[in-house]
Amino acid sequence: MKFFIDTANLAQIKEAQDLGILDGVTTNPSLMAKEGITGRDNILKHYVDICNIVDGDVSAEVIATDFDGMVKEGEQLASLHEQIVVKIPVIKDGIKAIKYFTDNGIRTNCTLVFSAGQALLAAKAGATYVSPFIGRLDDISSDGLNLIADIRLIYDNYGYETQILAASVRHAMHIIDCAKLGADVMTGPLSSIVGLLKHPLTDIGLAQFLADYNKGN
Ligand code: G3P
Repeated sequence: MKFFIDTANLAQIKEAQDLGILDGVTTNPSLMAKEGITGRDNILKHYVDICNIVDGDVSAEVIATDFDGMVKEGEQLASLHEQIVVKIPVIKDGIKAIKYFTDNGIRTNCTLVFSAGQALLAAKAGATYVSPFIGRLDDISSDGLNLIADIRLIYDNYGYETQILAASVRHAMHIIDCAKLGADVMTGPLSSIVGLLKHPLTDIGLAQFLADYNKGN
């Protein structure tokens, strides 16, 4: 399973990269704004800064919602750095744009996916990644994990190579459940990743080992 961090915060990206387990970064316009990164030039520079920290894929989202605008913006984003994956919303022009980028060798991440039908269209258009937002489904008492299971089944039925990128992950248990269901990638906050480490028996056991060692030294 690939681990992406879902943030535009450079310090957190560095911390995850230093752990040695980071495979990439996802961002969106809200995450950029949260870090105070506004204005086209600053946003483009920030993408390059992120690419220079991590080794893997970095999703950069288009703002345009029409085909021509998405193509123009996506080509600009892709030209920034070889690690950039163009993130495109799952709307009609977005599917057309994904197909265009697929045909032109530019990798894409189809975002704002909330149904199996949307994920099927993203795969047919050749998206590199599809991003079902599981936390936001859970927020409205709809089971986000069911969507991951449905997409896995559909993609496996037909051998689609689009990678399932479980997004809107909120906590460690989401990561475990997505891993059990066969999601290819998860993206979440740093807290969800380091949350995987937490176990009181590890802390108690380590304290005991150190105490016992110190008895004889
Ligand atoms: O990757 C999608 C993600 O940024 C959405 O997460 O927590 O805002 O629902 P969230």
